[in-house]
Amino acid sequence: GMGIAIFTSGGDSQGMNAAVRAAVRMGLYVGARMYFIREGYQGMVDGGDNIVEAEWSSVSGIIHKGGTVIGSARCKDFRERAGRLKAAKNLVERGITNLVVIGGDGSLTGANCFRQEWSSLLAELASTGQISADDQQKYAHLNIVGMVGSIDNDFCGTDMTIGTDSALHRIIEACDAISATAYSHQRCFIMEVMGRHCGYLALVAALASEASWVLLPEEPPPAGWQTTMCDKLRMASSAPRCGRPDHRQAAEQTTALPCHCTGGLFIYLPLVAAECVEADYVFIPEWPVVNWEKKLVVKLHAASVVVDNLGFDTRVTVLGHVQRGGSPSAFDRILGCRMGAEAVLALIEATPDTEASVISLDGNQAVRVPLMACVKKTQAVAKAMEDKNWQLAVELRGRS
Ligand code: F6P
Repeated sequence: GMGIAIFTSGGDSQGMNAAVRAAVRMGLYVGARMYFIREGYQGMVDGGDNIVEAEWSSVSGIIHKGGTVIGSARCKDFRERAGRLKAAKNLVERGITNLVVIGGDGSLTGANCFRQEWSSLLAELASTGQISADDQQKYAHLNIVGMVGSIDNDFCGTDMTIGTDSALHRIIEACDAISATAYSHQRCFIMEVMGRHCGYLALVAALASEASWVLLPEEPPPAGWQTTMCDKLRMASSAPRCGRPDHRQAAEQTTALPCHCTGGLFIYLPLVAAECVEADYVFIPEWPVVNWEKKLVVKLHAASVVVDNLGFDTRVTVLGHVQRGGSPSAFDRILGCRMGAEAVLALIEATPDTEASVISLDGNQAVRVPLMACVKKTQAVAKAMEDKNWQLAVELRGRS
């Protein structure tokens, strides 16, 4: 049977294991030889025990696990031709000419370049005696298929990426927990969620947890947003809706005594690099933000705006990587299953001339869409965000 290898690359996300499981089992079901490549591209370059044949039972008991059981890595070696030569040799030696890659746009682009370079890599391996002329001919074509694993839901061409739903569950759980302590102390909480350049998690989490305000990278608030935000928060906090008579009274008397009982006051900031908190940055108000220093500024600035203008007792909670760990939701498990199975079918039907595809979710269906077109669109969004062309970014992102 044909040799198919599967690997995960870049940041992990919940549901990757379900995709690995489904791909392996679908492959075995149709008579292919299935391989795991451990540690992403690094394992492909290093070979040896990193590339192992998978059996039906190799993927038992992994569907409920977070992360990726076959490991993931960022790989410098694969960026060099020397690294890709080694990788090609390792694959040819095992008769692998099909790759299933689960990762973000960078990992998918890498796979596509590898495919385009494949015949020249094999020619060099043959001419230097590292593989036989027979093998060069026998394994002349490399087919690839992609799946997108990312909690950010930041890939163009799919309704959802693998991991987003689980991350949302984790965020909502945290919001509910924070909400209880916010209620008890009448505090305002600013929650920072992940998402890099994509505000999907922030937006949807804000809706689902009754946030009073949300700051999104795609929709920078206009000048004077601080006043608008404070007015809104003041209103939310003084609304006598909580039912506790003491709070009602306080709220009616003065807005300076906030009542946060209606689920607490949350401001969500889809920001990164929270570990770099430094007091020096607090008072530089800048928006929109592109690099981490400025993102940090916005988060802390939002907190200081709330404290200075409203006098609310305010805390900042950074959720960080708990959003990426833990058990995948049912949705992500099913999504991984659907996509993994479809990925293998795409490889089986591929010809040397077939354009590489990425498996996407369209409504309730796993479908194949052209890989490079989606990658290019995704990268155009990133560029538009960098250029602060928010409207273009949102237009380009379309579905996701
Ligand atoms: O892309 C996934 C993601 O979790 C982003 O939401 C976040 O900005 C980034 O990765 C964090 O990267 P790292 O895991 O390298 O700290």
